[in-house]
Amino acid sequence: MDYALVTGASGGLGEHFARYLARKGHNIILTARSEDRLRELAEELRHFHRVAVEVVAADLGTAEGRSAVVAAAERLGHVSVLVNNAGFGTVGDFADADTDRMVDEIELNCVSLTTLSRAFVPAMVERGGGTVINVASLAAYQPIPGMAVYAATKSYVLSLSQALWSELKPQGVRVVAVCPGPTETGFFARAGDESIMQRRRTPEQVVQSTFKALHRGVPSVIDGPANVLLGEVSKRMPMRIVLPVSRWFAGSH
Ligand SMILES: NC(=O)c1ccc[n+]([C@@H]2O[C@H](COP(=O)([O-])OP(=O)(O)OC[C@H]3O[C@@H](n4cnc5c(N)ncnc54)[C@H](OP(=O)(O)O)[C@@H]3O)[C@@H](O)[C@H]2O)c1
Repeated sequence: MDYALVTGASGGLGEHFARYLARKGHNIILTARSEDRLRELAEELRHFHRVAVEVVAADLGTAEGRSAVVAAAERLGHVSVLVNNAGFGTVGDFADADTDRMVDEIELNCVSLTTLSRAFVPAMVERGGGTVINVASLAAYQPIPGMAVYAATKSYVLSLSQALWSELKPQGVRVVAVCPGPTETGFFARAGDESIMQRRRTPEQVVQSTFKALHRGVPSVIDGPANVLLGEVSKRMPMRIVLPVSRWFAGSH
């Protein structure tokens, strides 16, 4: 059977990607660490959309967790849509950072996204079709003092996705990096500062922008007109201006 695999599906953007895909008739594999929450969502999606929904609880920040997800998906059938959404950020200066948390952030935001893509893309290529959605961020467009590691991980996601878009397009596999700006999810509470960037988009808007971008066949999309403008400004401004402004936006002084 064919599945859409959504990482970080226990809440926030991942939950909304899963809802959208189930509504469109996809069978879904939900993964994240919070098994109870995944089971509740699975129940709801089966009930309302009459699709098959499987739950694989795993820590994608570990090689074992990632292997467990890949093995479970291979047992179930094919992954034709991969949504690499799980990720987190940290607010604070680099010199004060907790090293373990910093490594976990890179493992989840970069290593997990890369290894899951590597696990499922070859079968998509073989079958001549498939979709990979990578959740990057507006943070990918400029370095952010006060969220330095997070912004660097998202630049990685954007760069990797754009290259894969080009490599895989002739093989019939669609790739898109979605770059949300501040969005109403549990992200900022987890990052350690709920008060910053209060004007936020909704997860539904981000999901809509993603599927519109896939339809247009573009390699990446920034969600929301104000965020598009910020991204454009960041690309054009000299670093001596971009750096203090982005530090101010991140709210870390
Ligand atoms: N919200 C924003 O403003 C914003 C802006 C730009 C980009 N993004 C990106 O959007 C993506 C989704 O974030 P969100 O905003 O929806 O935040 P969120 O509400 O905190 O959701 C994060 C999801 O990732 C999962 N996750 C965290 N650590 C994990 C791990 N070690 N293994 C497996 N799953 C893990 C969480 O589930 P468990 O805790 O159950 O594991 C949760 O389902 C992230 O990549 C984030 O960087 C968010």
